[in-house]
Amino acid sequence: MMPITTHPFLAACRREETPYTPVWLMRQAGRYMEDYRKLRAQYDFLELCKRPDLAAEITVTPVERLGVDAAILFADILLLLEPMGVGLEYSKGDGPVIHNPVRSRTNVEQLEEFEPEQALSFVFEAVRKACSALNGKVPLIGFAGAPFTLASYLIEGGGSRNYLNTKKVIYFEPGAWRGLMERLSSLIAKYLNLQIAAGAEAVQLFDSWAGCLSPDDYERFVLPYTRATITAVTPGIPVIHFSTGTGGFLKSLRAAGGDVIGVDWRINLDAAWEHLGHDVGIQGNLDPVALLAPPKDIRRRVAEILRRAAGRPGHIFNLGHGVLPETPAENVIAMVEAVHELSSR
Ligand code: CP3
Repeated sequence: MMPITTHPFLAACRREETPYTPVWLMRQAGRYMEDYRKLRAQYDFLELCKRPDLAAEITVTPVERLGVDAAILFADILLLLEPMGVGLEYSKGDGPVIHNPVRSRTNVEQLEEFEPEQALSFVFEAVRKACSALNGKVPLIGFAGAPFTLASYLIEGGGSRNYLNTKKVIYFEPGAWRGLMERLSSLIAKYLNLQIAAGAEAVQLFDSWAGCLSPDDYERFVLPYTRATITAVTPGIPVIHFSTGTGGFLKSLRAAGGDVIGVDWRINLDAAWEHLGHDVGIQGNLDPVALLAPPKDIRRRVAEILRRAAGRPGHIFNLGHGVLPETPAENVIAMVEAVHELSSR
């Protein structure tokens, strides 16, 4: 077998020529898949995350079903917050909830200290099991939330429309913000490096909600902490830096770091790559809703994105955000096939 480092996904992370454009999907292990829904009927979400045998199985199944070029660990960005003692719960319908939100300097100081190696040992065990099941077929991507997105969950206590509480802390409680972001950036780096030590061959940092910020606020209050996290990642391991709604400050995202920058569909891929500079990789950027259309329309949209990537090395095909639960699995397969066929060179 070829060494895993020559796999098209990892080669594309290094911006090397590849025989076709590698593709994977955010949330490829999720509710749109029947195998997953069956498991979810028996276990709740946190239980699945904490059972390394099941988490590894959910990680590997989409690779077999879809023919994608990478596996992403089945876990969640919020797992890292649970040992802080903030009362994480995945409630039915409302999405994740944090029962004790963090809004002051005192709250930050009261967050529990813990060693991720012990507190999250089930994650690293899932990485080891998934790697051994993948057996070098495709690389495994580890991941974590970026400092801003995790801070926003801690402060809001869940998802949010306007990020009012988060921005209030940023503007009016600068000491609390700094304390929280410093704490998160070193914890996240440690957590990613433990996933890497367990076998993850690349990592993705999810800054899903960074797009709610102005470019100036991003640069001042977020960039330094994301940069600190990325700088501390084990050398030689590619980092994908993902966010949504950030087309207005791509240069700052790039400055924060990452070998590959993930972009959503709100900006054309060629325009985004131009702004970023062609000396960095790009990941994206099909609208997840496009996967609800018939396969011939999916193929046309795939062709459009590949045309914008213009065959440049360093493009990893993906959606601009996670697969929606209502997506027919056969459409996902049609998308993966279209990417491979239309990019074959
Ligand atoms: O991508 C994958 O297939 C790997 C697993 C993965 C999950 N969450 C599983 C999950 C990954 C990479 C994530 C990341 C994640 N989690 C992000 C960043 C990406 C993004 O979507 O912006 C965020 C913001 C979260 C937080 C989170 N977890 C939310 C908002 C929700 C509820 C909304 C939803 O989609 O249900 C979750 C739950 C969650 N995480 C599910 C899965 C498969 C659904 C849980 C279920 O089975 O009920």
